[in-house]
Amino acid sequence: MTTVSTFLDKEVIVQAPRVTDRERTMDPVITVDHLQKRYGAHQAVSDVTLQVYAGEIFGIAGPNGAGKTTTVECMQGLRQHDGGDIRVLGLNPATDGPKLRRRIGSQLQQSALPDRIRVWEALDLFATFVPGESNWEHLIDQWGLSGKEKTAFADLSGGQQQRLFIALSLINNPEVVFLDELTQGLDPAARRMTWDLIRAARDQGKTIILVTHFMDEAEALCDRLAIIDHGRVIDMDTPQALISRHGGPQTVTFTSGERDFSWLSGLDVVDSVRRTGSLTSVSGIGPVVPLVSAALVERGFVPDDLRVHQQSLEETFLRLTGRDSMNGMTE
Ligand SMILES: Nc1ncnc2c1ncn2[C@@H]1O[C@H](COP(=O)(O)OP(=O)(O)O)[C@@H](O)[C@H]1O
Ligand SMILES: [Mg+2]
Repeated sequence: MTTVSTFLDKEVIVQAPRVTDRERTMDPVITVDHLQKRYGAHQAVSDVTLQVYAGEIFGIAGPNGAGKTTTVECMQGLRQHDGGDIRVLGLNPATDGPKLRRRIGSQLQQSALPDRIRVWEALDLFATFVPGESNWEHLIDQWGLSGKEKTAFADLSGGQQQRLFIALSLINNPEVVFLDELTQGLDPAARRMTWDLIRAARDQGKTIILVTHFMDEAEALCDRLAIIDHGRVIDMDTPQALISRHGGPQTVTFTSGERDFSWLSGLDVVDSVRRTGSLTSVSGIGPVVPLVSAALVERGFVPDDLRVHQQSLEETFLRLTGRDSMNGMTE
C-alpha cells in the first residue's frame, strides 16, 4: 500500500513500496513457517518464518552461526527439519526432495569440484544428472567463461570459479536458485561482477535465495531480506524499509544564506532543526526527505546541495544485533 501523508492541506505520497501490490497478491513460491532444526542438543534454527515471491532476490542475512545455511539446506531438502513447515514451489522438501531438486538450482561448495576438472567437463558432467535434454553451451557465454572451456578448475580465478558455480547451478534451468556465501573470498571487482550476474539471473525470471553475512551485499542486491540471528528471524522487508524502521534518525542538510528554517520543526516527522554557519541540519524519523523537500519548495526555497544522511544496512544490522557483520560470530 502507498502511504499518504497530509502536508499543508495537500495529500503527499511519501513512500512507494518496492514490493509491488502485484507481488503481495501472488502466492509465494516459498513459505517457511516456524522452522526448527537442532543438531544434538544445539538448537541451530529455533523459529524461522518467511515468504519468498517469484522473481525476487531474497536475502537470508545474519552473522556467522545464525542458522542461515541450515535454513536453506532444509528448504532444499538436503536436511530434515524437526519442526515447522516448508513449501517450495508447492512441494514439501522433506518428502518431495528428488522432485523438488529437478526444479531448483544449488550452488556447490568450493570443495565439490576436483582441481583438474576442466570447465567444459564440469558442465558436461552436471548436464548428465539432468533428466531430459540439457544444453549447457549457452551458459559458457552467458557467465563470462568463453575461452576458459579447457581451463582446469584450479587454474580459474576466484571470480571465474564462482561464475562456473552459478552456471552449474543453472544447468537444469531451475525456477529457484540457492546461493550461499557466493562472494566469500572474492576481491571487490570480482564481487561486483558476481552481483551483476546474480541480477542478470533474476532478470531472466529466476527467483534467487541469497545467503550472505555481508550486509553491504544484502543492501546492494536483495529486493527483500530476512535478518536472522540465533536461529530466529529478527525482521524481514526491503533493505530500505529495514533501514527506515531500525536505522534511527534520517538527517537532511543544505546550505543557505541568512534564512531561518526553524519552522521546519513544525513538520510531524522532524525532531530537530540545527544551524551551523550556513548549514542547516534537519533530523527526524520517517519520511523526512520528501516532506522536508516539499516544504522547502512550497516556501520558494529550492536547495541545490540537499544531502541525505542515513544509516547503511550494516549500521542498522549492528543496531539490531549488537554486532557488525564482519565480526558476527555468535559464540
Ligand atoms: N552438522 C552440524 N552439526 C552440528 N552443529 C552444526 C552443524 N552445522 C551447523 N551447526 C551449528 O549450527 C549453528 C548454525 O549453523 P549454520 O546454519 O551453518 O549457520 P550460518 O550459515 O548462519 O553461519 C552454528 O552454531 C553451527 O556451529
Ligand atoms: Mg553458512
